Amino acid sequence: MSDQRRIAVIGAGPCGITAAKNLADVGFSHITLFDRNRQVGGNWLYSEEPGHSSVFETTHTISSKTLSQYHDFPIPDDYPDYPSHRHLAEYFQNYARYFGVEPMIRFETSVTHAELQSGGGWRLALQDHNGTRSERFDILVVCNGHHWDPRMPHYDGEFAGELLHSHDFKKAAPFRDKRVLVIGGGNSACDVAVETSRVSRRTDISMRRGYWITPKFMFGRPTDLVNENLRFIPKPIRPFVSEKILYLMRGSNRKYGLLEPDHRFGQTHPTLNSELLYFIRHGEIGIQRDLTRFDGNTVIFEDGRRAEYDAVIACTGYRISHPFLDPSLVNYSEGPVPLYLKMFPEKVANLFFVGLFQPLGSIWPLAELQAKILGRYLTGAWQLPKALGSAIRHELDHPDYRQLATPRHTITVDYHAFHKRLLAELPRSFRQTEPKTNSGAGAVLPSGETASSAT
Ligand SMILES: Cc1cc2nc3c(=O)[nH]c(=O)nc-3n(C[C@H](O)[C@H](O)[C@H](O)COP(=O)(O)OP(=O)(O)OC[C@H]3O[C@@H](n4cnc5c(N)ncnc54)[C@H](O)[C@@H]3O)c2cc1C
Ligand SMILES: NC(=O)c1ccc[n+]([C@@H]2O[C@H](COP(=O)([O-])OP(=O)(O)OC[C@H]3O[C@@H](n4cnc5c(N)ncnc54)[C@H](OP(=O)(O)O)[C@@H]3O)[C@@H](O)[C@H]2O)c1
Repeated sequence: MSDQRRIAVIGAGPCGITAAKNLADVGFSHITLFDRNRQVGGNWLYSEEPGHSSVFETTHTISSKTLSQYHDFPIPDDYPDYPSHRHLAEYFQNYARYFGVEPMIRFETSVTHAELQSGGGWRLALQDHNGTRSERFDILVVCNGHHWDPRMPHYDGEFAGELLHSHDFKKAAPFRDKRVLVIGGGNSACDVAVETSRVSRRTDISMRRGYWITPKFMFGRPTDLVNENLRFIPKPIRPFVSEKILYLMRGSNRKYGLLEPDHRFGQTHPTLNSELLYFIRHGEIGIQRDLTRFDGNTVIFEDGRRAEYDAVIACTGYRISHPFLDPSLVNYSEGPVPLYLKMFPEKVANLFFVGLFQPLGSIWPLAELQAKILGRYLTGAWQLPKALGSAIRHELDHPDYRQLATPRHTITVDYHAFHKRLLAELPRSFRQTEPKTNSGAGAVLPSGETASSAT
């Protein structure tokens, strides 16, 4: 029998669609997904127009396809090891179509406010082409993504050129023949610097510390698969082994003019890039230290160096942002993020988050497991710990990695460890067939079709 409770899911990105699919699987028949976009795909819908997505023209994943697929929907064999945004948008759209999620979605509809009702339900304020209205739901599932609200740095002085965030970087062409400074040492900074250096007069990258910049392939295999094979090594010495492998493959940071890392491997979110170091040694990308201030087109760095630029691209990360929720209920933008299994808040009834974590690996296969647990919780097949507050505190006090205390490191999980923790909450029948850790070649979907035919 179907469950008549009304569920609202905010977001039809990779996490929202798997949340809806798995809630429908356990019998919910009144599920509505709201998305301000026109299509399924969230961050992976590339557009030259400003909007939700933070991918640019040439973005490919940094998590390999093998570890970036839903458990019951293999990525087609003919996708490359690191799919492009085009591949992923297609994959997510096929998933939503194949599992019947599409008809649940109200596209081009923004949730502007979600208000907790005294009886425990939620009233959503909605905006679409017809104006605004409100609707009541029993349960609210938040999947609005956490890589869309730019965290801009602030410096003394004014910059006279173009100052933008990587969220608004769409392609390299506008930077042709310009002098470009890229700020940051994460994946956006390295990708953007490589792209602009192909066309710019000069591209420099400013990093405030040294990073363990890791190639996307090691020994001919995607790096996350190599790391998976290193899991037999005891956790305390794993960083040491990774650092030694990196040293053997590419030497020390000093050889490239970069600062040596001030932290162990794993203590920052990994930067995977096979081109940055190569471009540095080909003289296409210059290195700068941290910025101190602007003066017209001149940027002054902490080592006293000064250089002129036409554009500065701050690749300084994103805030966790829930602008539709009352900040007295939820305010995670400065951390910590007190959620059990990164999804259950202690005190707010009928509110759940799916996908609000940052794995060293891919997000949506883990969001899928969260959604299965949520379905079991809502149908009474699974219970939260009785002492929920202390369980949340324990989770906060025992992260998979003790990372640098910078704003981007409040929701990190280790892909495999979190996968294991989530699976442990699911029935044995599910666990016996999971996880799948190959490319899913020839894997068969429930209907007998293969993923590539499920279009
Ligand atoms: C450049 C880049 C590359 C990345 N590469 C990888 C990778 O290789 N592997 C990986 O696992 N992760 C990667 N990520 C992380 C990325 O966050 C995830 O891949 C994934 O997109 C998260 O899915 P999501 O559904 O949680 O959020 P999103 O994909 O951000 O989707 C959220 C959806 O919610 C909608 N929405 C938000 N607020 C509202 C509202 N108020 N009303 C209506 N609709 C709303 C948005 O329109 C959007 O469609 C990358 C991120 C970036 C920026
Ligand atoms: N190809 C891809 O798949 C791809 C491409 C881009 C992004 N991504 C993903 O998208 C997410 C966001 O990545 P991101 O690179 O945009 O952000 P990020 O991981 O948060 O990295 C931000 C970088 O900017 C630095 N920074 C922050 N504030 C600064 C300041 N005020 N001054 C100087 N430096 C500052 C950070 O330094 P600290 O080290 O000190 O924190 C860090 O190096 C990640 O999950 C990433 O993996 C993936």
